[in-house]
Amino acid sequence: MDPSSLLYKRVARSVARSKAILVTAGAGISIDSGLPDFRIKEGLWEAYPYFKNTNMTFMDAANPRFFKTKLKEFWFFYGHRYNLYQDHLPHSGYSALLEICEKYLGNKYHVYTSNVDGHFQKAGFSQRKITECNGSINHFQCDSCRIIYLVPHRARFELNIKNFTCKKPPKCTYCSEPVRPNVLMFNDSDWIACRTTKQEENYKKFISENSKDGITIIEIGAGTVIPTIRARSEAIFSDTSGPRTLIRINPDPSTHCAYAQTHCIVTEENIDENLEEIYQNEIFEIKESSKPALKKIHEAVKDLF
Ligand SMILES: NC(=O)c1ccc[n+]([C@@H]2O[C@H](COP(=O)([O-])OP(=O)(O)OC[C@H]3O[C@@H](n4cnc5c(N)ncnc54)[C@H](O)[C@@H]3O)[C@@H](O)[C@H]2O)c1
Ligand SMILES: [Zn+2]
Repeated sequence: MDPSSLLYKRVARSVARSKAILVTAGAGISIDSGLPDFRIKEGLWEAYPYFKNTNMTFMDAANPRFFKTKLKEFWFFYGHRYNLYQDHLPHSGYSALLEICEKYLGNKYHVYTSNVDGHFQKAGFSQRKITECNGSINHFQCDSCRIIYLVPHRARFELNIKNFTCKKPPKCTYCSEPVRPNVLMFNDSDWIACRTTKQEENYKKFISENSKDGITIIEIGAGTVIPTIRARSEAIFSDTSGPRTLIRINPDPSTHCAYAQTHCIVTEENIDENLEEIYQNEIFEIKESSKPALKKIHEAVKDLF
């Protein structure tokens, strides 16, 4: 068997014997749906030339100061992202993952994501089983009323692409002050966290209920610049008292893992056909894009049932 198929077979066995799955996901999972990440300066500048002209970075754009000082430009950035996230569908890797969680794991799963696009909900994952640690672009927050509410159904932001402004930045339904997305930005002491805090209670309950019997963590497209998601995956791997597995899906091999010194990280390069037996507490690294990787895991899991 070729190393890639062998790796997926081993990953599938690990998934099939798990009692619960924690999905952790960063911006990389959405890239295969056609949604960009913004960490690379040039990527942001290509999508938003305004930022090139003003020499701004993602950290300057996703910033409450920008909201307070350049409302129309701020809402060009977030309005454009909102429209984009609405216009795209989650790729088929999401449904493959959902089927693994629902059909083969008896619905014992939780999703912990830094993404704000709402694509796990859109793909059919249960709202009660999702934690959006950086909030959601599909919710407005009003700093004056201190409330969060859902962006009206079918809302669309009218954008002027000539001068990079939003024609009508949204206003609070209750007090008419400008609203912002309920997304955690940089240097953001204004963010209203109560929606995410509620979700985190469900997440904590999931972890405490399943830690003893074991958790398999499937981490997808999590970066290293702000390693919130990676750190979360590795902390759960370390704290789970029962059997645990970490499956890291990321096409960029320059990944760093806190366990590189203490664990053998199984990859396509070092997988050994002669060592077929499953070890306890394995870490797998799949160097592939999210969509094909999730579909291949799904196929391999299906073969085992
Ligand atoms: N869709 C969204 O909601 C969205 C989009 C952009 C940024 N953000 C926000 O910006 C922050 C970005 O941090 P981050 O660590 O998630 O992203 P990041 O941009 O720092 O890292 C993305 C990671 O995805 C990997 N990747 C690239 N292509 C991939 C693919 N096809 N399949 C799987 N992985 C792939 C990259 O190697 C990288 O490690 C997050 O906090 C997030 O809230 C969200
Ligand atoms: Zn208000």
